[in-house]
Amino acid sequence: MSSANRPPLVVTIDGPAASGKSSTSQMVAAQLGVRHVDSGMIYRLVTAARLRAGGTSESWTEQSVLEEAGRVSVAPGATSFEPLLDGEPCEGEIRGEAVTRTVSLVAQMPRVRAWVNALVRATASVHEIVVDGRDMGTAVFPDARLKVWLVATPEERARRRIVQRTGRQPTSAELAEETRALEARDAKDQPQTQPATDAVWIDTTGITQEEQVRQIVLLARERR
Ligand code: CDP
Repeated sequence: MSSANRPPLVVTIDGPAASGKSSTSQMVAAQLGVRHVDSGMIYRLVTAARLRAGGTSESWTEQSVLEEAGRVSVAPGATSFEPLLDGEPCEGEIRGEAVTRTVSLVAQMPRVRAWVNALVRATASVHEIVVDGRDMGTAVFPDARLKVWLVATPEERARRRIVQRTGRQPTSAELAEETRALEARDAKDQPQTQPATDAVWIDTTGITQEEQVRQIVLLARERR
């Protein structure tokens, strides 16, 4: 196929919680000169919209979540998409504890997954993208030009999450608590967290972020 006929570039980067998908995807997208889409951010947005509507999460129905999804949008920026709730930026809210605790529940709902997937596919129909999540290379973009599966040990993922949040290394008690929380979320997300059979696996435990970004950019340029 000539380059004029090739579909727009889609690179998928999937993996478990805190495996470094989002920061890696951002850097890869910047180096390729395309936009980054964070599908987890969209699940977080829908969850924040439902939280604003109130009620305990045990009573949330799929329909009641979908009714709030209309308040969610993403605005294309220079290198990524900004999360908006009722038209307003809401980055702090969607990264907060309440959303993190309930997002996996919302992400189990099949019609919510279909809604998020449609939004992600719509961005790829007009932009070249690097997209990260859990099922981007399987359910959403089975024909992506490059698929990456990022892994790291649970302790290393927990350590990175704490450094990201606090700017310092964790104590051993904090590390144990965060590892436990990540493993619990991994268990809930397990059904939709699977590598594509044709994904390239990168274990990031022992390598720097620059190195993992370099490897992915190299592969993407070969396939572009
Ligand atoms: O950054 P982290 O891996 O901790 O989470 P995230 O990417 O912000 O995703 C938040 C939540 O959204 C996950 O815990 C999943 O429940 C859900 N998610 C999903 O089900 N499928 C995706 N493609 C992306 C996220």
